[in-house]
Amino acid sequence: MKILVTGGSGYIGTPLCVALSERHEVTSWDPGMFGHHLGTARDRIALCERRVQQMSREDLRTLEPDWIVHLAGFSNDPMADFAPALNWAENMEATRIVGGLAAELGVPLLFASSASVYGYRTTRPLTEADPVEPIGHYSQSKAAAESWLLEHHPRAVILRQGTVMGTSARMRLDLLTNGMTKDGWAQGAVRVLYGGREVRPQVHVLDLVDAYVHILESQTVPPGIYNVATTSDRVIDVAAAIAEQLREILGREVRLEVDDTPRRLRSYALETDKIRSAIEWRPRFGIRETVQELCRTLGEIDPEDPRCYNIRWMRLLHEAQAILGRVGPIDVSGGSAIEGRE
Ligand SMILES: NC(=O)c1ccc[n+]([C@@H]2O[C@H](COP(=O)([O-])OP(=O)(O)OC[C@H]3O[C@@H](n4cnc5c(N)ncnc54)[C@H](O)[C@@H]3O)[C@@H](O)[C@H]2O)c1
Repeated sequence: MKILVTGGSGYIGTPLCVALSERHEVTSWDPGMFGHHLGTARDRIALCERRVQQMSREDLRTLEPDWIVHLAGFSNDPMADFAPALNWAENMEATRIVGGLAAELGVPLLFASSASVYGYRTTRPLTEADPVEPIGHYSQSKAAAESWLLEHHPRAVILRQGTVMGTSARMRLDLLTNGMTKDGWAQGAVRVLYGGREVRPQVHVLDLVDAYVHILESQTVPPGIYNVATTSDRVIDVAAAIAEQLREILGREVRLEVDDTPRRLRSYALETDKIRSAIEWRPRFGIRETVQELCRTLGEIDPEDPRCYNIRWMRLLHEAQAILGRVGPIDVSGGSAIEGRE
């Protein structure tokens, strides 16, 4: 198959493109906000360093994709709150552009939505039939993009993903389990804000990639919305499990620090029967395996690299953009990278 992946250089997109490229013709449509980390698979993947907003009918006619996977966009609350208008353009308007072209040309589309659209719901695990109550710019833009696709694209498959965890070549340490594991590993304390009583569903990035591959390859998954997660736990319980496991792996004390200031945060558990009956999906990674894996990864990367934290990187890009506006382009051709003191 020919598969076009928007946001193919992101945390989820990178392992997805790598996996798909083993059996399919993959084009990643991504300007590389966090760089490109495709490694040796780079030769098998066509890279189009452009924004979704620049995609045209002609581009799709040339590429002739059998599927479009739409991952591109702003991917968390801090980014959306930092630049709300841009978040809307990236998450809602860009979905309308790629979704509109896909619908017009009859190409099925798989959309990475977020379980955060459910908002604050403390009753029972939620099914796809439960109404959404998005809180904040990010979730509202995702919910709006879902509604637009449901109305305008008859073959859209929408995944309401829990928070993703685990190692990707484009690493993120600003996600729940990844961030708490990094804190415990680097600083000897797993920190929980606001009491941690909220429930969050999670899924390992490779299990999520497996779900995408199954959906794309089975060709039989009916359009509509699907919850995707392997666990739904209270944040305080996830933190306690991480701290306990870090103590075991590292052989030293790792504290659990809880700030009890009350604050109502989004909270939702997911029912995932629908996806499990639509595809042969056998998730492999729980919190335990993920923490083990993350400890290995943290020893191999710079855990303070600002690119691993979307909002830190975005602030830096914003600052650099303002400076470059005054300084002009910095031409480094013929230069060397040796640091030293004058
Ligand atoms: N990671 C999670 O926990 C999680 C959970 C639920 C939903 N999601 C959704 O899954 C998708 C992917 O998440 P991620 O964690 O891989 O995010 P990410 O931030 O790692 O990657 C996003 C990618 O999109 C690209 N991008 C941004 N704007 C673009 C544009 N206009 N055109 C083309 N490319 C653009 C960026 O360059 C980046 O490579 C997002 O839509 C996110 O909202 C993620």
